[in-house]
Order: sequence, then C-alpha cells, then structure tokens
Amino acid sequence: MKARDLLQQVTGLNLTDAVVNRAVERRMQALALDDMRAYDRLLATGAAELGALTELVVVPESWMFRDAEAFVAASAFIQRRLAAKPVRPVRILSVPCAGGEEPYSMAMSLQSAGVAAADYAIDAVDLSEVALARARAGRYTRNAFRGRHLDFRERYFVAAGAEYQIGDDIRAQVSFNQANLLDPAFSNRPGYYDVIFCRNLLIYFDDPTVASAIASLARLLADDGILFAGYAEVPAFCRNGFGALRAPGAFALEKTGAHASWPARIPARQHVRPLAPLRPATPAPAPVPPPPASAAPPVRAAPPAAARPAQADMLARARRQADVGDYQGAAAACRELLEQNPDSADAYFILGMVSECEQRMAEAGDHWRRCVYLQPDHYEALCHLALLAEQSGEPAQATALKQRAARIYQRRNDGDQRKGAQ
Ligand SMILES: C[S@@+](CC[C@H](N)C(=O)[O-])C[C@H]1O[C@@H](n2cnc3c(N)ncnc32)[C@H](O)[C@@H]1O
Repeated sequence: MKARDLLQQVTGLNLTDAVVNRAVERRMQALALDDMRAYDRLLATGAAELGALTELVVVPESWMFRDAEAFVAASAFIQRRLAAKPVRPVRILSVPCAGGEEPYSMAMSLQSAGVAAADYAIDAVDLSEVALARARAGRYTRNAFRGRHLDFRERYFVAAGAEYQIGDDIRAQVSFNQANLLDPAFSNRPGYYDVIFCRNLLIYFDDPTVASAIASLARLLADDGILFAGYAEVPAFCRNGFGALRAPGAFALEKTGAHASWPARIPARQHVRPLAPLRPATPAPAPVPPPPASAAPPVRAAPPAAARPAQADMLARARRQADVGDYQGAAAACRELLEQNPDSADAYFILGMVSECEQRMAEAGDHWRRCVYLQPDHYEALCHLALLAEQSGEPAQATALKQRAARIYQRRNDGDQRKGAQ
C-alpha cells in the first residue's frame, strides 16, 4: 500500500500528495535511505516507522483558551451538573488534545470557578506521542498564549527562561494517553463522559470518516452530556445525530433523541435551544478571556459616543433575555435599539437567534443576512447562515459562507496574536 493510503487508513486524515511526499523525504533522509521501495517495505512492516511518519503529517496546533467561550459554557455546565448530581466527579474528555492546551484550559477554568479538584477528572488523548510528551511536560512557548487576555498565565504558570511551566496542581488534573479516535476500541466505555471536547480534527477527515468518528464520540458521551466542536465542525455533528445548543461562540452540542434511536438523523435546527442560565460561580475570580469582538458594537454607522453605553446596555439586556428564554423580551429590546440605531448588526443577529429558537428559520435567515450586510465580518452570523444553508440543502452556498467565516476567524486570530506580541 502507498504511504498516503496507509497514513489515511490509520489516521483518517485527508492528506495531499505534497504533504505525504515531504514527510516521506524527511524520513528517508533521517534513515539514510535513498531507495523508495526499501522505504515502502519498511513502512509496510514496521509500526514504529508508520508512527514516525504520522508525526510528520499531523497538525498539533493549539493554544490556551482557543475559542474561549467553550470553556465558559463547559464550566457552567459542569457546575450545574455537580449541583444536580453531586454523587461522582464529572468526567471530561479532550480528544484530540494536541500539546495539552485544551484540557489544561478546562482545568484552569474550573479551578478559577472554584470547582474542587476532586469533583472532576480530565482524560486527554491524542494520536501524536510527540504532542503528548509536550502536554505531559506542561511547558509552553509564547505561541501557546495568544490574544490579549493573559491574566491566567500569571496565575497558573511560572516563567522558565523563555518558556512557561504550568503549575503541578493543574497538571495533576489531566491524564494523558495515546489513542486513535478511529480505533473501534476507543469508544468501549459507553456513556462514560459528561463533557467531550472534539475540536479541530474532523475538518481534516472525509465524510465517511467524520460519520464514524462522530458515532464513536456519541457512544462515549452520556445521553445528557455536552460536546464542544470546532466552529466549522458543527454542521457535521448536526448531520450525524447531534443538535446545536445556543451558546454563542462555544459551538456546544448535545445528542438528539433517545440514545436507543442512535444513529437516527434528526434535523439539528429543531433542537436548538438555549443553555439554561448559569449558576453563579463560587467566589474565585474567573480569568477566562472574554468573548470575541463579535459581541462588540457594530462597525458601521457608530452612534454618537454618549449614546453608545445605552445601546451596549440594550444589547446586553437583549442577550441576557434571549439566554434565559425570554424571546419576546429580547426581540422587543432589539427593536427598541434598532429604532435608535437602525444599523445595529448585533441587534439583527440577536433577532435572528430569537427567530431560530422559535423555529422561524426563513425569518432567522433574513435577520442574519441583514446583520452581515451591515457588518460583513460578523463571524457568528456567517456561521449560522452557513449552518442554515447546509440544512436547506444548499451545500455550495454553505461552503462559501464557511470559507468566508474561516477567513474572518483567521484574520481575528492573527490580529489577536499581533496585539499579544506587542
Ligand atoms: C489541530 S489539533 C487540535 C487540538 C485541539 N483540540 C484544538 O482544537 O486546539 C489536531 C490534533 O489531532 C491529532 N490527531 C490526528 N488524527 C488523530 C486521530 N485519528 N486520533 C486522535 N488524534 C488525532 C493530531 O495529532 C493533532 O494533535
């Protein structure tokens, strides 16, 4: 079997010839081999060589508090779960965990929220031994700290030369293990996890592989559990038995229907519902970075400075009302705001969310399109429009919207990184 097929079979990754050829060249150089057939033979017979080649094609890119809203929503979910069912620790899985940034972010969030160490356990899994070694060491370069809100670094890390070492208390909360999400044995603990993070891996898989990975994750997740995906992966989960929860920017999902009916395909949009309001955290401060700029006032037709606070308050009120399920109140607050500032993209965004929660999908689409017209880089509205297009059977339109959202996401990240470096 060719290296590319072998790698694809083992990892599930959709790899280009260029990526595979570069990796094979590097391995042949390291082994001082110049005969391609000799390398193919070695690859076919030696698991160790396949492992070494795999290390050169995986993308173990991650950073602390990547998509920070997910950790806010997960902490709230875990606190509610502990309040409702305090009999056992909450079980959390991070797959893939890359260099540990994701599970450590979860542990830092929980510690900041005052959740006791004994009340939760985090399993973290990745295919890459190199990434896992970094994770276990818990030592990071500046690259792991992106964005402007780095208070957590002061609290949970100590400087070690040019790097930062995570504290032992956080490190002790996470167990790292090497495993392949696609291995059938991976999901042999049905319903074990209350919270699963599976972010930024399925984007590298083809459709059948995505479906089988999601089936595995669904088996592992408790029926009343919650899963966090990457923003571009939400539609795939919705096509494969999950429903999106309305937790803006967190990309949270739950299993739809009874587990017995798995893998019944239920249109995700019928199951979108807000997360219940959060229980106030215990006194410790929460150094989780705040939501991204999409929650900020609109870029077009900014109102006079004196009017801004009032409008920001009205938007915050509308969001709060939508969050607790008071859709009429939220819609009324948005309309009041639009009377003052007809160009408020965020007001249209919230109106879209309200329409979605009330199952008026065509109207939701109209509001989000208006939002994007007013603010062309409104990331959340673009994601929602992409999901809508996908579910309306318009894959080309969905792809275009996802690509546009991805470019904005990338630009925002790059901007955050530049500011962080200044
Ligand atoms: C881009 S990172 C995502 C890390 C983290 N979840 C995040 O969102 O920042 C992708 C990781 O997937 C891992 N990976 C690739 N194929 C895998 C598989 N079949 N099973 C488990 N992990 C895999 C890679 O080693 C890499 O560390």
